[in-house]
Amino acid sequence: MSEEKSKRPVIIFDTTLRDGEQSPGVSLTVAEKLEIARQLARLKVDVIEAGFPITSPGDFAAVKAIAAEVKGPVICALARAVRPDIERAWEAIAEAEKPRIHTFIATSPIHMKYKLRKTPAEVLKAAVAAVELAKSFTPDVEFSAEDATRSDPEFLVEIFSAVIAAGATTINVPDTVGYTTPEEFFRLITFLREKVAGADKVTFSVHCHNDLGLAVANSLAAVAAGADQVECTINGIGERAGNASLEEVVMALKTRADQYGRTSSVYTPEISRTSLLVERLTGMPVQPNKAIVGANAFAHESGIHQDGVLKERTTYEIMRPEDIGLTAGRLVLGKHSGRHAFRERLIALGYNLSDEELERAFTRFKELADRKKEITERDLEAIVQAEFPVEAGELTLESFQVTSGNQTVPMAQVSVTFHGERRTEAATGNGPVHAVYQALNRAVGVSPELREYSLKAVTAGGDALGEATVRLEWEGQSYTGRGLAPDVVEASARAYAAALNKLLNASKTKGEKKVALAEGAL
Ligand code: KIV
Ligand code: ZN
Repeated sequence: MSEEKSKRPVIIFDTTLRDGEQSPGVSLTVAEKLEIARQLARLKVDVIEAGFPITSPGDFAAVKAIAAEVKGPVICALARAVRPDIERAWEAIAEAEKPRIHTFIATSPIHMKYKLRKTPAEVLKAAVAAVELAKSFTPDVEFSAEDATRSDPEFLVEIFSAVIAAGATTINVPDTVGYTTPEEFFRLITFLREKVAGADKVTFSVHCHNDLGLAVANSLAAVAAGADQVECTINGIGERAGNASLEEVVMALKTRADQYGRTSSVYTPEISRTSLLVERLTGMPVQPNKAIVGANAFAHESGIHQDGVLKERTTYEIMRPEDIGLTAGRLVLGKHSGRHAFRERLIALGYNLSDEELERAFTRFKELADRKKEITERDLEAIVQAEFPVEAGELTLESFQVTSGNQTVPMAQVSVTFHGERRTEAATGNGPVHAVYQALNRAVGVSPELREYSLKAVTAGGDALGEATVRLEWEGQSYTGRGLAPDVVEASARAYAAALNKLLNASKTKGEKKVALAEGAL
C-alpha cells in the first residue's frame, strides 16, 4: 500500500436501507427510509445504498426521495447486470448530488451453474455490458462479483480487470454467504489488488455477511490488506445473520488506529441515536450484549470492575460512552421543569418542534413526570418519537379499558378515531393485551397475524417507560409498530395501533409488493 493511500479514511458504505431491509420481517415505508437516510447523513457515512429500485414501486419511490433530498453522502442504487434494472436505478438516483449505480452478477461456479445458468464467458459479457450502460448515465459505477469468496480467484481477476476497463470505479468483493475467514480474505484481497489490471485506479470494496459471526473481522482483515471501502449496516442487520455492523467497524478503526492506521469520516457521537432509530423503525431489537450499541455495552456489573472504573475509567473501558453519543442515563428534567427548559433540551437533542407540537409533547412530559421521578434524555426522545411517529395514519387510539385476572375471561374496550370518526369496540382475548388487539382489529376491520411481540423498559427503575414492539403480517407483508407508555398494556396498544396504521396506509397503495427476482430467468 502506498504511504498516501494508507492514510486515507476508509470509505463507509452504508447498506442498511438495501441489504439491511432484506432482513426477514423488515419492511420500511418511504417516510421511514427517508428518516433513516437523513440520520445517516448526520452520521456522515460516505455512501448510502438507498435501495434496489427495480424490486418495487415503494423501493423506487424511497430511493428517488432520498436522492432528491439527502445531500452529503453519495446516493447509490442497486441493479442486477441487466438493462431494465440499470435504467430503473438511474431513474431513481438521477437527481442526487452524487449518484452511484451499483451493478452485480454472481461469479461462483455454483451460482453461475444453478442460479444464472450461464457460462463464465456469458457472465463476463453481461458484467461488462452492465458497467458500460451504467457508465453512460453516471461516472460513479460500482461492480460486485456476487459470491466472490466462493469464486475462482483467477476468474475474479479476469472479470474485475474487464469491468475496470469498461469504466467501473469501485470493485466490490462480497462474502455473500459469510463463508470466508479473516486470514483467507486478507490473502484474497492482497491477491486481487496485485493481479487485477487497473486495481490501483479504483476503490477496492468489501461486503461481508455474518453467517459465521466473522463479518466485522473479515472486513477489518480486508482493510489491513488495503481495501478502501467497507459495506456495512447499522446494528449489523441484513440477509440471514446480517452484514458487518457499521458501528463495530467504525469504532474498531477508531479505537485501534494503532493497528489499522486508517480511520473513517463517520461522526461517532451520532452512532447511538442512529442505532436506536433503526431499531425502532425496523422493529429488530438489538441484543443487550451487542458490541458498541447493546444496552450492556458500557455497563459494569461486577464490584471489582465498578471500583476500577470509578478509580480510573480506562481500567475497564476502551471507549468512552460519549464517543458514541451515549447520554441516556443523564437526568435532565424533573417534575418542576418548565416549557422553556423542556424546549431547550429538545433543541439540544436535535428536535425542533412547532409551538403546537411542543405543547403536545410538553403535556406528555408532565404526565410522565407525575408518574416517573427522573426524566432522562432517552425518555425525552421516547416521548417525541411516540408522539410524532415518522408515519402518522388514519387511526388514533383515544382510550381503552381492560378487565383481567386469573379467574376471569380478559376483556377490553377500545375507543379510536378512524377516518375522522369515533368508534368503540369490545372483545375478549387470551390476556388483556390480546383482548385490546382483538378490539382494535374490529375497529378497523382487519385481522392480521401477530408475528412478533416484545416488551422492554426504556430506562432503569420501577417507574421506567415500557416500550412495546409488534410485527404484524397481512397479505404476505410485514408491518412493525412501537409504542411507549408507563403502562405496559397502553404501550402494547400504541404499538399495535402504529403497526395497523402502516398496514392501512399500505393497503391504499396496493400492488406495491416487492417482486421476488429470479435471476435464472434473465
Ligand atoms: O451479499 C451480496 O453479495 C450482496 C451484493 C448485491 C453486493 O448484497
Ligand atoms: Zn449482501
